[in-house]
Amino acid sequence: MTDLLVRGIGRLLTMQGSGVGVVEDAAVVVTDGLVSWVGHSPDLPAGLGDRPELDAGGACVTPGFVDPHTHLIWAGSRRDDFVDRLDGTSYAEVAARGGGIHSTVQQTRAASYAELYDAAAARIYAAARTGTTTLEIKTGYGLSPDDECRLLDVADDLRRHCPEAIETTYLGAHAVPPDSGRTPYVNEIIGELPNAWMHNAGWCDVFCDAGAFTLDEARRILTAAREAGLGLRLHAEQIERTGAAELAAELGCASADHLDHVDTAGARAMAAAGVVGVLLPASTLTLGHGNWDAWRTLDGAGVTVALGTDCNPGTSWCESMPYVMALACLSYRMPVEAAFRAATVNAAAALRRTDVGRVVVGARGDLAILNADHEADLLAHLGAVPVAATVTAGATTHSGV
Ligand code: NIG
Ligand code: FE
Repeated sequence: MTDLLVRGIGRLLTMQGSGVGVVEDAAVVVTDGLVSWVGHSPDLPAGLGDRPELDAGGACVTPGFVDPHTHLIWAGSRRDDFVDRLDGTSYAEVAARGGGIHSTVQQTRAASYAELYDAAAARIYAAARTGTTTLEIKTGYGLSPDDECRLLDVADDLRRHCPEAIETTYLGAHAVPPDSGRTPYVNEIIGELPNAWMHNAGWCDVFCDAGAFTLDEARRILTAAREAGLGLRLHAEQIERTGAAELAAELGCASADHLDHVDTAGARAMAAAGVVGVLLPASTLTLGHGNWDAWRTLDGAGVTVALGTDCNPGTSWCESMPYVMALACLSYRMPVEAAFRAATVNAAAALRRTDVGRVVVGARGDLAILNADHEADLLAHLGAVPVAATVTAGATTHSGV
């Protein structure tokens, strides 16, 4: 197991308390992959033994970023969708022309297991280079029982072989396959839930929206998912206001995600039920519906807000949490401190994890050593290389220092 001493931290964000928990002139000790000491450098205990050291060179250091929403297992490209949308063609029109989710489903079904694994591992590595140490990964580009199981197996293989902490979500309810009827497909998904659990899915998600699954279909699927032992999450209010935020509250989902069209009533219901709101501004930017009120609506209602990449080939080809955080600040006018909490401790809460997203004794030894003296610089310096080194469970998984 991995031991490490990180010294020379000019400014450490621990996320302890309600702010970002700053410790100036700090050091962090990791023992067997877990944080065993955090504090001011002059107080560093003697007798730490012989362990590797990393000098942060006075940089700002944060918990490794937690990305609570990705669809990162896919094959092929949606570059045609991107190009088509630039002249104002909508997501629905692009899908009707043969693009959209179904185009990725075809390309994913045609790929080998190794191709899918390698493409997803490369995306995880790209995320690690920008400071991510925990990711949620959804299926949803297989849609048939066999193809979805294959994607669950890829996710599980990644979980076992990548150093990052990985959570796996079954999203068979991403779209109705063109060759299935709606109700038979919903019934098929419900029948597959125990199998998804057997293939080590921890969560079930449903794309509940206009053009996707209805509130009643989502309720049926998620109620059965809970009985099958899966945790619940929901794609909600992305395309239209449907009442999916209230459904997430009714079912006690860990998170409701996207939320571009959430209103105050939906946000209040989420806050009362403790549902974390996951905002995915890179997909909002790509889809171009220009609705940037969601953060104020959620925060005003007292919802815990997280940020994620939504990494997928169609609406958000992005592995970078710093990019998403900068976009959140500039588009929602989210304060810097809120963006850092949203990308760490709040994103961990969206996954119901307390062992990541904070630098405290007992947490995983996950750190992002920024290419910046202060956290605001990470978000203000657009297009810069954000992270000098990423430490994952005490191992340096990416280092430019
Ligand atoms: O999260 N909302 C649904 N699914 C994805 C998009 C998937 C795709 O277009 O391939 C999303 O934005
Ligand atoms: Fe999504």
